[in-house]
Amino acid sequence: MRIGKALAAAALCATLAPAAPGDSPGTPALGTTPNAHTLATRDTLVFPDGRGLPPGSGTVAMGRDLFARQCVACHGEGGRGGPGGELAGGDPDLTRDQPDKTIGTYWPYATTLFDFIRRSMPLNAPWSLDNDHVYALVAYLLDVNGIEVPAATLDAAKLAAVKMPNRDGFRWVDVTPPDQAD
Ligand code: HEC
Repeated sequence: MRIGKALAAAALCATLAPAAPGDSPGTPALGTTPNAHTLATRDTLVFPDGRGLPPGSGTVAMGRDLFARQCVACHGEGGRGGPGGELAGGDPDLTRDQPDKTIGTYWPYATTLFDFIRRSMPLNAPWSLDNDHVYALVAYLLDVNGIEVPAATLDAAKLAAVKMPNRDGFRWVDVTPPDQAD
């Protein structure tokens, strides 16, 4: 019976994924060829310690201006709330029944903000901001959350050095694969 099911599944795959012209004979003809955008944005992870942050810089003032034009409709004045949720302010007491999880009260690393904004905001036009714009928006959002941005400017090194108020509010899980543990 197992073989019968496997054959049925194979037949279904064959129906759903007909070989495209140009496929090499014998290949399963699954997936699609990545386009230029997918290839360009594939290796762009920013890690909590700042690895992966690109060159560039932006100021709080530039971020304020960008935010007013591209973000305020969904996140409200100063990020204080709108249909896209609140990004600033909030009660820092996270033990309440419904805690205010804003950037300032909740996020453990500022570097994640860069990664998130670059790949997904503004919601209607992800990947439309250049790196200087993203640094500027991160600088502005830290500033409105009362987190110090030295000289009101951010670049990769300065962003990686920011310590968020809730950095120690998380419990870390060791995910070292067993074969790499000491
Ligand atoms: C069209 C509406 C819209 C616009 C414009 C928009 N956002 Fe958002 N934003 C959202 C929504 C909706 C979410 C929640 C997404 C989710 O939870 O997956 C969000 C989430 C976020 C978050 C994460 C919040 C959190 O604590 O999880 C950040 C940071 C953010 N947006 C920044 C920005 C910035 C900066 C801009 C301007 C460049 C922007 N957004 C423009 C709708 C929008």
